[in-house]
Amino acid sequence: MGFISMGSGAPPVGLDIGTDHVRAAVLKSSSGSPTLASYGRVDVPMGAVVDGDIVDPSAVASAIRELWRQPGIKGRDVVTGISNQKVVVRLIDLPFMERDELQGAIQYQAQDYIPIPIEDAILDFHIIGDYMTPSDEHMMEVLLVAAQRDTVEATVAAVEGAGLRLASIDVTSFALVRSTLGSGLNVFSEDEEGPGEAVAVIHIGSGLTNIAVVEKGVPRFTRVSSLSGNQFTQAISNVLNLTFDDAERLKIRAGLPDINAHVLAAPEDPEAGMIQTAQDALEREVNKFIAEVRRSLDYYLTQTTQARTIRRIYLTGSSAQLANLDTYLEKGLQAEVVLSDPLRFIQVGSGARALVEEDRMGAAPAIGLALGGVI
Ligand SMILES: Nc1ncnc2c1ncn2[C@@H]1O[C@H](COP(=O)(O)OP(=O)(O)OP(=O)(O)O)[C@@H](O)[C@H]1O
Ligand SMILES: [Mg+2]
Repeated sequence: MGFISMGSGAPPVGLDIGTDHVRAAVLKSSSGSPTLASYGRVDVPMGAVVDGDIVDPSAVASAIRELWRQPGIKGRDVVTGISNQKVVVRLIDLPFMERDELQGAIQYQAQDYIPIPIEDAILDFHIIGDYMTPSDEHMMEVLLVAAQRDTVEATVAAVEGAGLRLASIDVTSFALVRSTLGSGLNVFSEDEEGPGEAVAVIHIGSGLTNIAVVEKGVPRFTRVSSLSGNQFTQAISNVLNLTFDDAERLKIRAGLPDINAHVLAAPEDPEAGMIQTAQDALEREVNKFIAEVRRSLDYYLTQTTQARTIRRIYLTGSSAQLANLDTYLEKGLQAEVVLSDPLRFIQVGSGARALVEEDRMGAAPAIGLALGGVI
């Protein structure tokens, strides 16, 4: 940035569009250390975002407009994340070529790797590195990203409908990895992994769960599942015949039973029976969830990677607050489970502190998106 700045010159605001909430993170980067200047969260009307797709762009645009009325949320340029089961992230090996040549080659090669027709897809790629094979071939490793054109167009419509400009689109999983493990695709502390080990980041929201596996500092695998908070609530609602809102309150109150304790809810509690039923339903859902995560992690480990184990899982997302979920996952997945802290790599300004601390588990995507714009 020069002395005279025509625009604000500010990095784009991280905008996370979710099933239940839109969130914004405004980061300032002074002397190389990013500081969260403001943070906000606003509800999204039910049904406007389904399975990571914006089905009602104008409802989402109104929620974003409301978000931009929150204190300190300003700036016209935003970076947002996409996350749904149709976003494809693949690590591929290609003969070495220069970036310009790769740009063209990717268009031809991509169809071999992605299940959606190339004309319906928007492609992006990141060069991870290059290497020599034992037979002296010069190869390169490329992370290929493909998103459905419709997904991207609906995102543009929602953002522009709110009077903002979409400066760039990121994959939500990459943003999660960035806020959990450090900035940039290739950068994070080496002591996180030992030889033969990888780490995973699991973010459980309301409509979606994002799983990312990171090996040698690079997110090499991502998967999006629809097993998440809403499913937990729905299971309680079904089994007790409660409205979704009542089931939601009971879910948060009950949590999972403490597997190390022998006493459940106090028997004199008038809701003890309901709590027990809710916990049983949650336990069944969480077991399904564990099986699904295990399938994803096993799939990754059986691919060409060198890692044989996932040593540590960083857990984030509002649904990660479900009481005792971490112990269930630790037992079910045989890995160390730690809660991810989205504030680990940033400073927090006084204007943002109270809001972000209240939403600490939900803040990782918005912060990670904003981090991608300041580094
Ligand atoms: N204390 C809690 N215990 C258990 N679940 C909780 C708790 N607090 C919030 N949740 C759950 O978190 C979910 C909302 O998460 P969040 O706001 O992060 O979703 P989102 O980002 O809008 O959706 P998406 O899944 O599309 O990313 C709801 O299912 C809610 O029940
Ligand atoms: Mg979310």
